[in-house]
Amino acid sequence: MPLLKSIEMRRSFRALDEKPIQNEILLRLAEAARLTPSWGNKQPWRIVTVTAPSQLTALKATLTPGNYWAKKSPAIAAFVTSLDWDGRLDDGRDYALFDLGMAAMAYQLQAVEEGLIAHPIAGFDAASAKRVLDIPETAILETLIILGFPGDPSGLSEKHLASETSARLRKPVDEIAGFDRWSDQLVPQGRD
Ligand SMILES: Cc1cc2nc3c(=O)[nH]c(=O)nc-3n(C[C@H](O)[C@H](O)[C@H](O)COP(=O)(O)O)c2cc1C
Repeated sequence: MPLLKSIEMRRSFRALDEKPIQNEILLRLAEAARLTPSWGNKQPWRIVTVTAPSQLTALKATLTPGNYWAKKSPAIAAFVTSLDWDGRLDDGRDYALFDLGMAAMAYQLQAVEEGLIAHPIAGFDAASAKRVLDIPETAILETLIILGFPGDPSGLSEKHLASETSARLRKPVDEIAGFDRWSDQLVPQGRD
């Protein structure tokens, strides 16, 4: 599939099927993350993929109420890093979260290839989730990627149901990308 098509097809869908995802597929997602570039090739990403029923139940208990839809997921990938595992420059640039984000995107695009929904979320209690997964206190559990094959949308709230089929909301390209030098057009207008 052309890459831009895969990028367009990736959406944060919420209608998940509960059927399990084979381990070989989960490993291919991790392989896509593994091949991501990073500062000094530090590879600061760590992924804990949760599939064991008792662990899944405990992890799902940390979700915020708005993420009720994720309770159907048969596999959740925790994306972890630490600022100490990557480049930290004297001028204030830290690369761990940047590199983790790139790995998470590669992971999501491979999920598109596998016919999976891969929906990143921040809506969970990170301290509790870290305890469930035995993640060291000093590490950052930045996001959970909720995985699942597309499923029945009937359990979704009206708002979430509408967003399954709505047009994608994005700023026009000239508000986010320019040529040659910074311009006023690139200054964010309000919160969106
Ligand atoms: C870091 C991050 C955190 C997010 N947290 C949540 C979340 O807690 N719950 C949720 O339903 N969606 C969450 N999303 C999904 C975004 O709302 C979604 O990516 C955005 O609206 C753009 O839609 P799209 O991914 O379908 O293009 C999150 C996305 C990112 C990247």
